[in-house]
Amino acid sequence: PRDPNGCPVSARAAAFNPFEPAYMQAPGDYLRWAREQEPVFWSPQLGYWIVTRYEDVKAVFRDNLLFSPAVALEKITPATPEVMGILQSYGFAMNRTMVNEDEPDHMARRRLLMDAFLPERLATLEPMIRALAREYMDRFIDKGRADLVAEMFYEIPLNIALKFLGVPDEGAEQLRQFAVAHTLNTWGRPTAQEQLDIAHNVGRFWQTAQNILDGMRAQPDGEGWMYETIRQHLKHPDVVPESYLRSMMMAILAAAHETTSNATANAFHTLLTHRQSWDDICANPALIPNAVEECLRVAGSIIAWRRQATADTQVGGVAIPKGARLLLVQASANFDPRHFENPDDIDVYRESAVEHLTFGYGAHQCMGKNIGRMQMRIFLEEFVRRLPHMRLVPGQAMSYLSNTSFRGPDALWVVWEPALNPERSGS
Ligand code: HEM
Repeated sequence: PRDPNGCPVSARAAAFNPFEPAYMQAPGDYLRWAREQEPVFWSPQLGYWIVTRYEDVKAVFRDNLLFSPAVALEKITPATPEVMGILQSYGFAMNRTMVNEDEPDHMARRRLLMDAFLPERLATLEPMIRALAREYMDRFIDKGRADLVAEMFYEIPLNIALKFLGVPDEGAEQLRQFAVAHTLNTWGRPTAQEQLDIAHNVGRFWQTAQNILDGMRAQPDGEGWMYETIRQHLKHPDVVPESYLRSMMMAILAAAHETTSNATANAFHTLLTHRQSWDDICANPALIPNAVEECLRVAGSIIAWRRQATADTQVGGVAIPKGARLLLVQASANFDPRHFENPDDIDVYRESAVEHLTFGYGAHQCMGKNIGRMQMRIFLEEFVRRLPHMRLVPGQAMSYLSNTSFRGPDALWVVWEPALNPERSGS
């Protein structure tokens, strides 16, 4: 095959397939060859240019005019007419939200909706997160064994997301079943048959989100970010239009919830498989905030994000034609030795850890990054205090949902000896 510039595609570029398990198992390793030999390459299987080095990924993120985020939530596997028909039957109308909006609309909207993310506002969530963490741990702390994903890391970030957004709790149970469908619909490669089921679930997700939104709009004085968004829509309908409200109601649930659940599970897996790092944070919990950054670097929960070139340009010396789509693989950039010394070492003392690209970069950088970080920090603080001797169940295979972008294990089994719990023994 040849790339859109007419150049022959190398065998490794032709073989690149983010839907095979090796990509999810270790995306940084999977693209090591590319960082070294062909840092920007055309993937015929995906129809995207793949960008793998730190400086290139950052440069593309930085210029959101030349590299538009409009394609960020596109279906990476194009919909068949049948799938389109199903989605339409549910009134599905996913449009621009925040993450895929172009300037100048994006910045005007982001400014109007930023207040709830300010550190002093977020600090008010901390006691609730800690209380939930303790309560969930109490349920299993005497059992000596738990799947941390199913028993804690899935649910608490969901609860916190709903609380932050102001979404009534009754919505939670309905919404959680649709999360996987949304991820596969947007970033996965389901078969034609699977796509039909997924389309129905995405359609139901859309309708549920609309019903919740309509309920909230009927009482627009409620507390939470979606209520603030509704009030800004009433005041500035040109900046926060109706279509934004509707699309965001669905998109933000995935953005605020799964990203944090997955990042937490990835962090615990990383630290428990590098026991020295775990022991270091147990001995000195003040290291936890930096350990969180190092975990986001080596095992982030968003591993690749998309942009589209708005003019003929170059990335890393490779010609990129106008209209071309790019997959920026942050999980590869975060292992680039041109930026991080000994990138394969997990080092909770690493000063540059915070320079990872897991939250994106520039004008669209994640608005919720401090909510994610805060939850990860609190969970680690509670575990290193209460279960410092916890271990991974040895030999468990980690499995991941096949998709380009959302990465977190389906389960994370740990064991401990309840009698050694320091709080119980009073030590
Ligand atoms: C955008 C990752 C948690 C809300 C983004 C982007 C990434 C990302 C990669 C796109 C950045 C870009 O285009 O430059 C993550 C990760 C999280 C996380 C890894 C957890 C560890 C959250 C939470 C919330 C949130 C908890 C909300 C409560 C948003 C919003 C945007 C965004 C609103 C759009 C910002 C814009 O386009 O201006 N996030 N996110 N995220 N995220 Fe997060």
